[in-house]
Amino acid sequence: MNTLVKDNISLLAHEIKNPLTICNGYLSMLNDKDIQTRNNYIEIIKEEINRSLVILSEFSKNNSINKEIIDLVCLFNDIKRTLNDLFIENNGELIILDDDELLVEADYNKLKQVFINILKNAIEARGEGKLLVVIKTLEGKDYYIITVIDNGIGMTTEELNNISNKYYTTKVNGTGLGIPYIKDIIERHQGSIEYSSKKNIGTQVKIIIPKEKSQKTFNNSSYNLNMLE
Ligand SMILES: Nc1ncnc2c1ncn2[C@@H]1O[C@H](COP(=O)(O)OP(=O)(O)OP(=O)(O)O)[C@@H](O)[C@H]1O
Ligand SMILES: [Mg+2]
Repeated sequence: MNTLVKDNISLLAHEIKNPLTICNGYLSMLNDKDIQTRNNYIEIIKEEINRSLVILSEFSKNNSINKEIIDLVCLFNDIKRTLNDLFIENNGELIILDDDELLVEADYNKLKQVFINILKNAIEARGEGKLLVVIKTLEGKDYYIITVIDNGIGMTTEELNNISNKYYTTKVNGTGLGIPYIKDIIERHQGSIEYSSKKNIGTQVKIIIPKEKSQKTFNNSSYNLNMLE
């Protein structure tokens, strides 16, 4: 099989595994729950099955980016609803500090895949104590800076230097495809993604993404995403 086809199949399998893992998690938690909670879980399972169908059909159409105007806060709240009880089950808490509208022109489903990959990695990196993951957005002139911070096991400098390499993983069952994939998606949104981490302290992911055009303070088409650096 040629390498490109093999890479694409591995990536598709990786992205389909995420919604299936979420479904599996909620199915295994259904038993001892009241009817209201069960109904909520069934709703999430249905949505995740639909999301996997969308991911499948997107891959069969070149996995292109379909931009529309979206509110990042809606996306974060949607993700929080999807993952909240899985975090609790894993002795964790997902905290979203944003509440004001944050409009960007982006592919909602693809950004959801990006954040679910980041949050799944955070859950997998949890240490001994309670896992805390905080999402917070700062506003730049033409862009938003989204940070996702966890207090998990962190990474050594060597690990950190390798995470963008395809197939680099420190996990027994990992593929090492998550970070290269989300980097590609963010770059296809004319944004950037940067990881920083300290062993036994935690990890921070910083995503810079352009604002929706009418939100920009300046109407400058050649804005510089590295202005903060
Ligand atoms: N939040 C984090 N805390 C600590 N290490 C992390 C974190 N996120 C990523 N990593 C490191 O980056 C590596 C690569 O992550 P990536 O998502 O690309 O693949 P993976 O998680 O290993 O595999 P898969 O996504 O298939 O489960 C991980 O194996 C881990 O060592
Ligand atoms: Mg991963």
